[in-house]
Order: sequence, then C-alpha cells, then structure tokens
Amino acid sequence: MNAPTTLDGLEVGFDIPALPGMAEADIQTPCLVLDLDALERNIRKMGDYARAHGMRHRVHGKMHKSVDVYRLQERLGGACGVCCQKVSEAEVFARAGVKDVLVSNQVRDAAKIDRLARLPKLGARTIVCVDDLANVAELSAAAMKHGTAIECLVEIDCGAGRCGVTTTPAVVALAKAIGAAPGLRFAGIQAYQGAMQHMELYADRKAKIDLAVDMVRDAVEALNAEGITCDIVGGGGTGSYPFESASGVYNELQCGSYAFMDADYGRILDANGQRIDRGEWENALFILTSVMSHAKADRAIVDAGLKAQSVDSGLPVVFGRTDVSYVKCSDEHGVIEDKGGVLKVGDKLKLVPGHCDPTCNVHDWYVGVRGGVVESVWPISARGKAY
Ligand SMILES: Cc1ncc(COP(=O)(O)O)c(C=O)c1O
Repeated sequence: MNAPTTLDGLEVGFDIPALPGMAEADIQTPCLVLDLDALERNIRKMGDYARAHGMRHRVHGKMHKSVDVYRLQERLGGACGVCCQKVSEAEVFARAGVKDVLVSNQVRDAAKIDRLARLPKLGARTIVCVDDLANVAELSAAAMKHGTAIECLVEIDCGAGRCGVTTTPAVVALAKAIGAAPGLRFAGIQAYQGAMQHMELYADRKAKIDLAVDMVRDAVEALNAEGITCDIVGGGGTGSYPFESASGVYNELQCGSYAFMDADYGRILDANGQRIDRGEWENALFILTSVMSHAKADRAIVDAGLKAQSVDSGLPVVFGRTDVSYVKCSDEHGVIEDKGGVLKVGDKLKLVPGHCDPTCNVHDWYVGVRGGVVESVWPISARGKAY
C-alpha cells in the first residue's frame, strides 16, 4: 500500500475505519485502536529512562511500522533514530524524512544492497549489520557505485542464535575490513539478545544479558586495543533494557513493544515480581471488535478473527473484563465465552493482541482515541514491507 498523505475523500468503512472527530463508538471494526494517553505515557517513560541512564534510544520501527508513531517517539521520547528489519521498511522511514535509520539485520541480496546504498541520497544516515567478510565487499561496491556512505555494525550473536559472529577475533577482523573498505564506515556493534526477552523471571533475563554483556565488553576492549572505537553499541528490548542500560558497555537501546504492549509481553515479571503490564507499561494497542452473533446463549461471535491479528504468541485478552474471554478464532470470527450471557449483538470489546508486531502488520490504519473521541488516523505506512 502507498500510505496516503491526506484523509480527504476517504470513506469511512470503505477505505478507512474512522475519521478524526468521530465518536469511538462509531469506529468500523475490526480495527486497531491506540489509546493516545497511554501511548504517550509509555513513550515519555522510556525516553526519560534512557536519558536518565545516559543511553540513546533507537526505537524499533518493525513493531509499529508507522512514521507517525516514530515521530511521536522522537518528539516525546527523544528517539535518536529508528531500527528497521528490512530494506523496504527502512525506505518508508527514510522517504518520510527520518534522518537516522539502522537496518538491524543482514542484507545479502544484490537488489536489496543496491537499494540500501541509495538510502543516504534521501538524507538518511544509513546503518546496517554485517557478520560476514563477503558482505563487506558487496556493501562497499554498492556504496561506491552510488557515491554514498554506508555505516556498518558488526553483529554479535550474544545468545539469540540468529545472525552474528560468536568470537571476538571475528568481530575485530570484520571491523578492520569495514574500516578499510571504500564507501563504508565502521560504526560499532549490534548485540541484541532476542531469545530471552520473554522469559518470565527478571533474574533469568538478567542472567542471559550478563552473558551477552561479557561477550560485548570483550569485543569492545579488543577493538579499543586496536585503536578502533565504537560509536554505537546497540541492543536491548522491552524485556531487557534495564540490564543493557546498567552495563556500562551498551550506549543504545532498541526497544519496540514497550510503546504498545501486548498480552504475551505483559505476562513477564519485573524486579518486584509484578507483571510488566501492571505498572511498568500500559496497554496502548487494542483490536476493537464487535459482536456479530449471539445465537448460542453462552457464546458471542466477534468480527476479529485470524485475519485481524497474529495468534503465534497466544490468543488476545479481552481488556478490562473478567466476565467474558476470547477462546478461539478462525479466519473471520472470534469466539467469546460469555457464560453469563452479558453481551449482545453490536457490543464492542477491546482486545489486547497476543503479539503486537505481526498484528500491526495486517492492518492499514491506527485509529488514535482520546476521551472517547477519534483524534488521529495514521496509516501503518510500512505494513507488509517484508522484503
Ligand atoms: C534487533 C532487534 N532489536 C530490538 C527489538 C525490540 O524488541 P522488543 O519489541 O522486545 O522491545 C527487536 C525485536 O525483535 C529486534 O529484533
């Protein structure tokens, strides 16, 4: 989708779920709704935290895929730039004028490398992750072809088991190769531990990041010994940011989910054993859904099924209610257990999605609501940008 720049002429219910000024009750469902007060509190809180701990925050744009949400993170949370996972995602943010874009991933396909090398022409500082010497040559050739500069982070696999090198000598060899390659600049280290973010216990998460910090510190010290400095030592997500912030080694966080929260992340526990969605972060993202059938006394059927969300991390939770629960879904239907028969056709429910990132990716719009009134309608500008 090419995100529209104006809402003029869009028809509610046909190509847009709501327009600013409408009552929340009139929003077309199923639809993603943002509680703007909660969203702004989350963004300010993380921004204040990062600042107080001397960290920059390069927010992860793959979570919300929205230029408008990023702008809010910049304005209220002091975000220093955006992380993207794909070149196509990075292009959306760079074309919208975002000036500092990290593709926190490897780019190996020739056409994608070529597109990456053109991003600086849009005025964006362009950074990418590298874990292979052959990729250094590929990136350098593309940057030279376009007369641009690409900054590179050497990625360390610090426990996620995905991309990244696993030894300090490999980090140093790559950093030297990047430093010597025309068109490239060595910018530092990427070390995101993605496998521990959702571990329930704070102590277990801390133990995993302690190991990551040891690896990263060793690499930074070895680089320094060679006279190579790291502008960026980046990583950290919603389940780990206190640890990277306290490490004395990392200087950039990359949190994403904190801004919206979801049902799966909400279940992990903070240092006091409290769920992180009961104080640390607020639910700001909801799937608004309507009851479309109540033909059976104890079951209501809503219009948010599989196509309105991702259930890879569990089913959504009905927000603010204990009398009804979302128990099953198929393509276009959600089944709500309603033992007391309290719901009726037309009633609306707010669902907290199981997993925010892939849920946002299947919608076109965020409808921002404050005080029961639609305040903003934002295109999910990079939705579907998976290439
Ligand atoms: C490289 C990278 N950094 C940061 C994040 C943000 O994590 P979270 O949504 O847990 O805050 C992710 C998410 O998967 C990621 O892949």
